[in-house]
Amino acid sequence: MGVYPIILTQSKFMHRDHLKYPFEERGLQFGDGVYEVIRIYQGEYYLFEEHIDRLYRSAEAIKLTLPYSKEELKDLLLELMTRNKMNKDGKLYLQATRGSAPRDHIFPKGVLPNIYGYIQELPRNLNNLNNGVKAITRRDARWENCYIKSLNLLPNVLAKQEASENDCYEAILHKDGTVTECSSSNVYLVKNGKIFTHPATNNILHGCVRMAVERFATDLNIEFIEDAFSVEDIAKADELFLSSSTSEVLPIIQVDHTIITDGKPGKVTKMLQAAYEQDAKLTK
Ligand code: PDD
Repeated sequence: MGVYPIILTQSKFMHRDHLKYPFEERGLQFGDGVYEVIRIYQGEYYLFEEHIDRLYRSAEAIKLTLPYSKEELKDLLLELMTRNKMNKDGKLYLQATRGSAPRDHIFPKGVLPNIYGYIQELPRNLNNLNNGVKAITRRDARWENCYIKSLNLLPNVLAKQEASENDCYEAILHKDGTVTECSSSNVYLVKNGKIFTHPATNNILHGCVRMAVERFATDLNIEFIEDAFSVEDIAKADELFLSSSTSEVLPIIQVDHTIITDGKPGKVTKMLQAAYEQDAKLTK
């Protein structure tokens, strides 16, 4: 389940073993770049437009000009899939940095961004999807512009590591008790048949699956309320779930020492999972 051999770098395709990584690279030295993770089902990108749009929004927010149009980039990514003869479930990792230049905080002049993308196989985790996962709560120690999908993920990495050390899948982050999102996913609370989640402000990543969840909820006549909930509300929740490109719509059945309702995935969560599977043309 490794990386497929052909990777995209700048506008070219090459074998992954031939990529030369300069050590003076702004992504490495400053985290000066943006990225996307796009889910692949049976060799097709899921929520492709949404991810490409967000990549350009993130790039613009850090004043990084990508050297080609959205259409050109999409064509390159489609070609990457074809060249790898990829027809399974997987993910694309795509990264754009401010390029290679002698280390200086100020933007380098006349330097092209380094862009690379590669594909990996990633089977769906049906066990997690069917049974749910556990989470911990942690303080959200990130900066003010979490809507930018930037490479600066140290607080996310530390929170996720703590989750893992506590035998949990995710860390639910909060600012002064208000839940924002998880370390690498969005999070939702269900109460009396309504879905509550943090509004799409600067304090969370505007997830592509989050957008899809809102669409599914509307189609299913379930109220989708962009009103943040608190850590205290979690104990009173009927259901809790998270979403991301790699996790899909995933039930959370326990948070810290609190078991959510009966410790089983809830009704609304299951309806959204079914809508997701339909939208992504999946069969369990
Ligand atoms: N993470 N919030 C954060 C902080 C994330 O890192 C992610 C995605 C999401 C969900 O976004 P989307 O629905 O567009 O995948 C929310 C990716 C998968 C990652 O970093 O691996």
